[in-house]
Amino acid sequence: MSDQEVSRGLEGVTVAETRLSRIDGETGELTIGGFPVEELATNATYEESVFLLFEDRLPTAGELDEFRADLAGRRSIGDEVRDVLRRAADEERPAMDALRMGAAAASLGTGADDSGEDARRVIAAFPTIVATYWRYREGEDPLEPREDLRHAANYLYVLTGEEPDDAAVRGLETYLNAVIDHGLNASTFAGRVVVSTESDLVSAATASVGALKGPLHGGAPGPVLDMLRAVHESGDPEGYVRDALDRGERLMGFGHRVYRVRDPRAAVLSSAAERFYEAGGDAEFFETVRAFEDVAVGLLAEHKPDRRLETNVEFYTAALLAGIGVPQELFTTTFAVARVGGWMAHGLEQLADNRLVRPRARYVGDTGREWTPVEDR
Ligand code: ACO
Repeated sequence: MSDQEVSRGLEGVTVAETRLSRIDGETGELTIGGFPVEELATNATYEESVFLLFEDRLPTAGELDEFRADLAGRRSIGDEVRDVLRRAADEERPAMDALRMGAAAASLGTGADDSGEDARRVIAAFPTIVATYWRYREGEDPLEPREDLRHAANYLYVLTGEEPDDAAVRGLETYLNAVIDHGLNASTFAGRVVVSTESDLVSAATASVGALKGPLHGGAPGPVLDMLRAVHESGDPEGYVRDALDRGERLMGFGHRVYRVRDPRAAVLSSAAERFYEAGGDAEFFETVRAFEDVAVGLLAEHKPDRRLETNVEFYTAALLAGIGVPQELFTTTFAVARVGGWMAHGLEQLADNRLVRPRARYVGDTGREWTPVEDR
């Protein structure tokens, strides 16, 4: 590519090699660590997915026990981090701001100075950071993480104070695995840019959290749930979609930069959500979700005949996480709890074969200006 060609949003530009995940946007196939997403999401524990990304193979039973225990031993956060989170909660900051502040402080007191340890520490501490903030927000004392629980089970425990049932753990684990990695998305790329300067993985995680916060990336599932609730109440999906599109709004949970077909993670998560709602959840609400998807995809095709706009991962994320009982305010932070495994694996991959990321910009400003003293302007 010459200096003069600009790819806005780096669309279509390949800037790294990775063995972590592969997306085929035309056929809607996603491979994570060599497995089709459906296979990994429905079978793995989160710890197995992280090990897979780090080591490029599944752990043996002994290795898994050891890895699980290692992560579990890194979950606690110190008083310094708790103080930051209490302040964020007192000031009613959004959860992603609290996670950014907590992530930045996560290495305090650990004494870690190697990237592998940083990576495991950050992954292990994220659920504790999110839950600690949330419990302060709810006027409750934070809970000490439980080392005897799996990563996903412990996350639900530190949020609610109750040991979750198997269905909730499995539902959350399916979600965490399905979204653990997804090519060079904005937050992953942001983290790799930071690591490419030979900065540290905690700094990279902080940058990634900042990138994930935006509504065009990870901020969509909250608004999706609002939309689904409004439609469930009105019973008029068509009217809702037409009004939104007439107002020039984007429909949250639809469209993707890479996929031109239905996001394969939407299929994985819709099956997981269906199991929940059928086994004692609000089955009528889930019917609304399904009906809304059909109506929305049809009307988006009319609205943008030249651009296929299909369901993306965030649509069923909203339905599934709401079913499990994750508070809506924590949807994006829960996405971060999952994606941090991918962020850290990308950081280690970048470090192993590093080249400073340094693209160029085409200058479109003026040149040759002459200085005017301030009193003459
Ligand atoms: N609703 C209505 N119109 C849409 C939508 C949508 N969800 N998505 C794209 N379009 C329209 C755009 O307005 C644009 O129209 P225009 O050419 O008249 O301006 C056209 O389709 C092409 O859109 P782009 O902006 O080129 O698409 P891009 O690749 O930049 O966007 C994105 C992808 C950001 C995900 C977009 O589809 C969107 O905003 N979706 C809604 C937000 C959302 O669901 N985000 C979560 C994404 S998944 C994830 O990050 C994990």
